[in-house]
Amino acid sequence: MSSGPVIKLNNGKEIPAIGLGTWQSKPEEVVSAVEYALKEAGYRHIDGAWAYQNEKEVGEGIRRSGVPREEIFVTTKVWPSHYDNVAKALDTSLANFGLEYIDLYLLHWPIALNPKGNHPIFPTRPDGSRDVLLDWPLKDTWKQMEDLLKTGKVKAIGVSNASELKLNEILPYATVVPAVNQLELHLYNHQPELVAFCQERGIALQAYSPLGSTNSPLLKDETATKIAEKYGLQVSDVLIGYLVAKGIVVLPKSVTPSRILSNIKGTLAAVEKLTKEDIAELDAVEANGKHVRVVTPPWGVTLGFKDWI
Ligand SMILES: NC(=O)c1ccc[n+]([C@@H]2O[C@H](COP(=O)([O-])OP(=O)(O)OC[C@H]3O[C@@H](n4cnc5c(N)ncnc54)[C@H](OP(=O)(O)O)[C@@H]3O)[C@@H](O)[C@H]2O)c1
Repeated sequence: MSSGPVIKLNNGKEIPAIGLGTWQSKPEEVVSAVEYALKEAGYRHIDGAWAYQNEKEVGEGIRRSGVPREEIFVTTKVWPSHYDNVAKALDTSLANFGLEYIDLYLLHWPIALNPKGNHPIFPTRPDGSRDVLLDWPLKDTWKQMEDLLKTGKVKAIGVSNASELKLNEILPYATVVPAVNQLELHLYNHQPELVAFCQERGIALQAYSPLGSTNSPLLKDETATKIAEKYGLQVSDVLIGYLVAKGIVVLPKSVTPSRILSNIKGTLAAVEKLTKEDIAELDAVEANGKHVRVVTPPWGVTLGFKDWI
């Protein structure tokens, strides 16, 4: 079974264009989801994060699949409360997974949280606002990420949720350009200027929430439905396949075997069938009053996205 197209990163390594997302996958579900994705559905790419609190179970799924480690592309992310010591955070993630190395290690959000705060994931100040360290130099954390490459414990480093404003806090000081920027990208949130900014600098794009996340309105979109019906595809195939056709890595999450399978099989079918005209029609949907962003944590600080504070 084909694991689908690959995209070349700026470090020369290849990343499979379709990866399995694992956010909100419960520990008891994700072992079998990962095992099924790798062993039965042909996935070779898993997207994880320390903050998803299921790295241990993802690692177990990888082992149970029997697929050799070197055939699998594993991503995880360092949480902003650990930006003072990413080497330690990486060792924790490696121990959780039971792996010797990570293929891609990302800064989860381009802000830092108080490492000595009152909660490991979402520390708050006495007034209840998020305990963001407003003066934290992101470039120093990026330098720590660059140092990790020398250890061999990570093969590539990148960022997530980084706007142009935030990338400009890193890029002028970077000796290694981020390999990827993992962003919310889907039918109702294209971010074309940011996508172009990244592509011009050799930063590959990864689309998170490509289906619009939990209880998504995208699955009922009229244009995507019409195009899906034209080709005998599912709407989800069009939503994901359309992004892959544009050269974007997609990370659909599911713990349901039939969906895990269709999200790779149907996506590959959609990539073959979608025409330039279909893609242009899908690109135009958001502009017709359909803009939606589904992941907007209340950091209380501007991240530089047009529709954020
Ligand atoms: N970097 C970041 O800050 C960040 C933020 C968000 C997400 N991510 C990554 O991106 C991944 C994907 O994003 P996401 O989890 O927000 O959302 P998503 O993949 O857009 O959507 C997942 C939801 O769609 C359902 N689903 C999956 N396949 C389907 C299909 N073929 N038909 C109908 N429903 C389907 C899933 O249900 P079932 O599981 O019940 O099947 C789940 O409820 C995450 O898991 C995570 O790895 C990263």
